Amino acid sequence: MALWGGRFSGESSALFKLFNDSLPVDYRLVEQDIQGSVAWAMALVKVGVLTEAEGQDLKAALDALLVEVAEDPQQILASGAEDIHSFVEQALIDKVGDLGKKLHTGRSRNDQVATDLKLWCKAEGEQILARMQVVRVALLELASREQQAVMPGYTHLQRAQPVTFAHWALAYVEMLERDISRLEDTLKRLNTCPLGSGALAGTAYPIDRHALAASLGFAGPTLNSLDAVSDRDHVIELCSSASISLMHLSRMAEDLIFFNSGEAGFIELSDQVTSGSSLMPQKKNPDALELIRGKTGRVYGSLMGILTTMKALPLAYNKDMQEDKEGLFDVMDTWSICLEMLIPVLSGLKVKRANTLAAAQGGYANATELADYLVAKGMPFRQAHHVVGEVVVKAIAEGKPIEAMSLESLKAFAAVIEQDVYEILTIESCLSKRDVLGGTAPNQVAAVLAAKS
Ligand code: ARG
Repeated sequence: MALWGGRFSGESSALFKLFNDSLPVDYRLVEQDIQGSVAWAMALVKVGVLTEAEGQDLKAALDALLVEVAEDPQQILASGAEDIHSFVEQALIDKVGDLGKKLHTGRSRNDQVATDLKLWCKAEGEQILARMQVVRVALLELASREQQAVMPGYTHLQRAQPVTFAHWALAYVEMLERDISRLEDTLKRLNTCPLGSGALAGTAYPIDRHALAASLGFAGPTLNSLDAVSDRDHVIELCSSASISLMHLSRMAEDLIFFNSGEAGFIELSDQVTSGSSLMPQKKNPDALELIRGKTGRVYGSLMGILTTMKALPLAYNKDMQEDKEGLFDVMDTWSICLEMLIPVLSGLKVKRANTLAAAQGGYANATELADYLVAKGMPFRQAHHVVGEVVVKAIAEGKPIEAMSLESLKAFAAVIEQDVYEILTIESCLSKRDVLGGTAPNQVAAVLAAKS
């Protein structure tokens, strides 16, 4: 039975019920709805709406309901209730009769759903945070395992300068740390309790909203009832934090897909996270990574969806806002499983060091070194840049790296070049010269790893 029958003489149509009901989505809030209901019952006892004994009976029935739905979650959807709030209230009435009908005194589904959803966001956000920490550790372990590996760094997807593989992995640690702090910040801001805001104007009972908020684990109560029942910033912020985080994961996936390609041949992915082709026996496809890259799209879609839903809503609650959950639930599920999937991808990943080294040595990634060498010999950088460009043209024509050119042919470009040039053209020299905070020199990378591990 609907919670609001009195004003109506006719039944709503089956189509309307199908269209209007949110139970198929918001059944996931059952725990939070029960938790919020227990807290509300206790608050009603404190203001004398319920006796102590009534409060205890309601609490016992709600606690029992929590156990029952955990054992048999199917019963929620089978109930055909309008939404999770109606389900919990009806189940309570079925258990304790008329007493159950007292629970909704001074409460509205508007402050109820806002509270339930924030409780859910808090719990889910904490789980994502924990998962991000595990991915961070997996990246740090990968970086320390592969500290010796050298590979080309790219700009414009052209080999630019050599970097260590660990330096690459630590770049994603930086992103992950920003993502963690963004989510922590989001969770801090959403930590206010709407319960007691009523439908929109505040409840008419003298509830101690500070105590109520504390009893539900919130940092404090919301301070404006109109805002409290119609604020979905936390949904938007979670979708936004997820979008940024998945943008990072998608870039990591893309890098690894490229590293795994036949063209690069830089890494080997574990059999656990790859699949074969039904037709081509030789293939080992990086499906897990492609799906992380692919799923990023739907998360952005949900962010756009909720932003658009909210953009022209008048204060306060409007039913449009019921559309907040489907996208959010999908975002948090997707974010969570992408993070989870990355863990075996990273821990099973092996770098083919001979290949990455060969690639770092090819592609004239040491051209900048030669320019710096000429600068050290007194040539202005712009001129040195031009000279080295000509050297590279010649080297390409001869089909060899710069360091394979004879001293004589190098001197033809700049007389200041001496035998000592060959030392600075080595990979080791390229790397160790980037000995600046944030640079790829092995000692810098080791220091970062030590500090973060
Ligand atoms: N199912 C609704 C939602 O998720 C609950 C709030 C309903 N409030 C109302 N006034 N109809 O938004």
